[in-house]
Amino acid sequence: MDAWNLEAASGRQESEAVWKRVAKTRAVAARFLGCAAEEVSLLGPTALGLGLVALALDWKTGDEVIFDPLDYPANVYPWKELQRKGVRAVSIQRSPGEPICWENLRSLTGPKTRLVSLATAHYLSGHLPELSVIGSELKKRNILLCLDGIQTLGVLPADFAEADFLAADAHKWMLGPVGAGVLMVRKWAWDRLRPPLLGSWNVVSPDFLAQPEIFFESGGRRYEPGSLNLPGIEGMRASLELLDSIGLPEISGHALALARQVREGARRAGFAVYGGEGENRVITSLVEPSSGWGSIKERMEAAKIRVSWRKEHGGKMLLRVSPHVSNTPEEIGEFLRHLKN
Ligand SMILES: Cc1ncc(COP(=O)(O)O)c(C=O)c1O
Repeated sequence: MDAWNLEAASGRQESEAVWKRVAKTRAVAARFLGCAAEEVSLLGPTALGLGLVALALDWKTGDEVIFDPLDYPANVYPWKELQRKGVRAVSIQRSPGEPICWENLRSLTGPKTRLVSLATAHYLSGHLPELSVIGSELKKRNILLCLDGIQTLGVLPADFAEADFLAADAHKWMLGPVGAGVLMVRKWAWDRLRPPLLGSWNVVSPDFLAQPEIFFESGGRRYEPGSLNLPGIEGMRASLELLDSIGLPEISGHALALARQVREGARRAGFAVYGGEGENRVITSLVEPSSGWGSIKERMEAAKIRVSWRKEHGGKMLLRVSPHVSNTPEEIGEFLRHLKN
């Protein structure tokens, strides 16, 4: 990002070299997503990608969309807002912390269900929905699957081969900058998702002249209406290439082992893990004890340990820990020591 800024300040913002790096960004993101590079649009926040999908589909009055009201707001509001178009937003029924499985969804789907939107991991519990089963069941019923991928992309493998759409900003497990992100639209779904945002970049516009007819560019550009967030994309590319050079199996194995260490150590110290049992997750949130968190926040800050304090839907404060590949078992040990005294 610094290199791009320097070049932009002293010369050009756009150059052949920059466009080559944009192409490399699509390619490396596609490797993490398990899709083709042409299915990756370089946009911004997760909410932008999910909102674009919600806006773009050709909804009819009476259509239904299934969503999780306990999900992060970016994956709730775009679907609820569709009620203004006569779409029924159907809530998944589950208690806070409970994982989502096909059984939670089966009875909600019907002939009017057009789309289900889920997170690849819940942002508080870290639980992964059983996407391989859900994906194929939805496909059989011709129901689209849209995902918020921000809580796994960059750390866990893609188990969503059947998903039609996925959006994720780079600032979580991709270790990239805020405000740069990806939108995956599978090629088989291009016809069902006419771009709702239009401009000189995604509509063929020779010499930057507006044309009488609208023909969309193909590939990821199809959903990118205007100038790209080039400095953000440079940062996202660099962090994804760094992660790619380590390898996803290595990264996920390491992060899952550290998360296990967090859960086991915290349980031994008398803390409850939000969402109960469940091994296959990298996010771990600890539930506020009945006596409150006491001086733990100050102790963590003094020790320069960065945890995330998150409120859960019942009102308790959770301590969320998200160890990545750069963390070590020794650091987790240090965290656990500060947790105890
Ligand atoms: C599940 C989830 N989705 C999305 C976001 C971010 O949304 P956006 O990129 O729209 O700011 C977060 C957290 O920042 C999150 O935890």
